[in-house]
Amino acid sequence: MKSQFLLNPKITFLNHGSFGACPKPIFEEYQRFQLKLENEPVYFIKKKAEGYLKTARESLSKYVGCQSVDLFFTPNPTFAVNTIMRSLHLESGDEILSTNQEYGAMDRTWNFYCKKSGAKYIRQNISLPVVSKEQILEEFWSGYTSKTKIIFLNQISSCTALIFPVKEICDKARELGLITIIDGAHVPGQMDLDIAELNPDFYTGTLHKWMLAPKGSSFLYVKKNFQEMLDPLIVGWGYESASPGESQFLDYQEFQGTKDTSAYLCTPTVIDFLGKNDWKAKAKECRKLVMDNYQGFCDLLKTQPICPITEEFLVQMASIPIKTAKPVELQDMLFDKYKIEIPVMPLNGNYFLRYSINAYNSQEDLDVLFRALQDIIKTTDLLEV
Ligand SMILES: Cc1ncc(COP(=O)(O)O)c(C=O)c1O
Repeated sequence: MKSQFLLNPKITFLNHGSFGACPKPIFEEYQRFQLKLENEPVYFIKKKAEGYLKTARESLSKYVGCQSVDLFFTPNPTFAVNTIMRSLHLESGDEILSTNQEYGAMDRTWNFYCKKSGAKYIRQNISLPVVSKEQILEEFWSGYTSKTKIIFLNQISSCTALIFPVKEICDKARELGLITIIDGAHVPGQMDLDIAELNPDFYTGTLHKWMLAPKGSSFLYVKKNFQEMLDPLIVGWGYESASPGESQFLDYQEFQGTKDTSAYLCTPTVIDFLGKNDWKAKAKECRKLVMDNYQGFCDLLKTQPICPITEEFLVQMASIPIKTAKPVELQDMLFDKYKIEIPVMPLNGNYFLRYSINAYNSQEDLDVLFRALQDIIKTTDLLEV
């Protein structure tokens, strides 16, 4: 599989999680769309792009389990969550119940809107190591009060790479009459996703991470009863459109100025690639590699796994808790000296070394990391063991 990707062969690439990696056949399709666009920009944008986009939306909606008129493409989840927040009209005293393991850009977006409105963003502590799903649920819901209006959380966390029980949380939130917003940035392509079954009010996910799409392809699903209240983040031709399309929701969200939509338009090719290459089987092998190696890394670094090593909590990434006073130097050394691309991630005063495994990785890549860490422990003061 390695030869199918464009990754630099001199680098041991263990960071699929940050921005994904795109295989050659998908990247070629992306460039084909860009060439078509440059070849006849007016014809492409005015006559063709809308139809291609609809086809892309239809194929994505089947893949993630919702209707094609209930989602739209966004460049990234930050854009998607900002779109939601702009329309929520938070009021002073409202509470948004979340966890202390959310993605930094999301924390910042909530902080921004809470500062403007006087609402409160509650980052409920989920203690590590996680011992069970029940523990997460109990800790999460102990932050619920009569002022809670919204629940917001990631389905797979960024720094800790843990699966959160979002189905159970959405079910209970619905009973309590709360708005549910799920950040599934890492989910499509890594876990099966059936939005209809999960039944959140809003769900965002990326295609450019684990679905292997070109960069800048993500989506926002919006339940029908929230579609009318959702303002466009950028007001453009779609607002009070002179030639309305399928729905006001799609007009508002899809026409926000000139843009290159080529990454979105590749979606049918992306899904075809995953199917043809039996990505489910490959993902299973990757999960095995992730889990087989986790305890060994923790032993080497004299630390403990942050969850039971099972498919209930882990997918294709694992985060090793580390002790370091020099996180930036550590990450730089791993890259500069050992040619390993892997993030050292800060969260709540702790640090984690997060490895990602995709079909282009093998045991050898993790062995390279293991040997590098042994060497760093022996020869530097970057890791405290
Ligand atoms: C949990 C989570 N949410 C969102 C994102 C992506 O955010 P963006 O691409 O908008 O910065 C990431 C990326 O790693 C993530 O881990």
